[in-house]
Amino acid sequence: MVTREALEKSVKEWWYYTVQLAPDLVAQGTYPADFPYMPRMLMRNAHLQGQDCLDLGSMEGVIPVLMHRKGAKRIIAADAVPHCAEKMDLLQKVYGASWDFREVGLMYDLSQKLAADGTFDYVNLSGVLYHVFSPMHTLASARPLVKKNGLFMLSTNVVNEQSDLMHFNTAGKLQTEPNTFWYPSIPLLEYMLRYFNFAPIDCLYSRHPSNSPLHVPGKECGFISIVCRAVDRGAAVAASDHWAKRSMLGSWEYTGLSPQKHDPAEVPSSIGYDIPDTLKDMMARNGSIDLHLAVNELGRRVERAKRVEDTYLLRLGDES
Ligand SMILES: C[S@@+](CC[C@H](N)C(=O)[O-])C[C@H]1O[C@@H](n2cnc3c(N)ncnc32)[C@H](O)[C@@H]1O
Repeated sequence: MVTREALEKSVKEWWYYTVQLAPDLVAQGTYPADFPYMPRMLMRNAHLQGQDCLDLGSMEGVIPVLMHRKGAKRIIAADAVPHCAEKMDLLQKVYGASWDFREVGLMYDLSQKLAADGTFDYVNLSGVLYHVFSPMHTLASARPLVKKNGLFMLSTNVVNEQSDLMHFNTAGKLQTEPNTFWYPSIPLLEYMLRYFNFAPIDCLYSRHPSNSPLHVPGKECGFISIVCRAVDRGAAVAASDHWAKRSMLGSWEYTGLSPQKHDPAEVPSSIGYDIPDTLKDMMARNGSIDLHLAVNELGRRVERAKRVEDTYLLRLGDES
């Protein structure tokens, strides 16, 4: 039971998300009211009922609340440090949700740090990859946490260009936030995902508009959210990509930092996902999607959010 006094105290604190704490109390977060929350929009298509879910970098825990609303069986929320512990606790009480919290430190070696928690049907890694020195190391360490045939959702800043480059935030030229390092191009990010046996099946992209502090002159930067299916070793890369397959099996970095089990006897996750109509043809042809094409030719773009349920505002009530 949360007292009115506790709610009134909390509503005055700094919040990342905008959260309704009582019918007449809304804690104001950092995002504008019509800013789209794409991980939330994509997660709506995932069948989380009865599934094991992990959220990496949870802040106050809005994604865990949404996982709970979608009927997840087990929810683990993890963050580098428990900097939102009190607000997270409050959110669980106000929203009647429950999850376990894990303090994981820097987002490396995650499968070792979370080894006692086993593997998950759904893993979310949103808003974290641009904060780490080594995005590949983080992806490598998250991969073993996803069950065979499970889903992995990744959201990060990218450059919308046809290249296999990753841009560094030299002198804050991408953004002044001092904890931000890399923006990969969309095709390179896709290649990295495929290299770690993640096949992209859906995405949404939002360009940083020219009036945003994140706008970079001469470069189209934006935020992308991607849902991937965890597939067997080598199944997400081109049949002709012998380098990737040899690297997966033989490079010291891969085998040391991404200890994936490829046991044919492992019971696969049965988690479902509703593929949007516009991607169904490409999925039927290839079993996965080309992210650059999906963003630039198949309409997987968002500008402003059209519905409150697609924003960073969490309301009491029933929406996911
Ligand atoms: C921008 S917030 C994203 C919150 C949430 N995942 C979302 O997408 O709405 C960044 C999250 O990553 C964590 N984080 C930031 N920098 C980090 C770092 N260098 N290592 C590990 N975690 C970090 C923060 O504690 C926070 O939970």
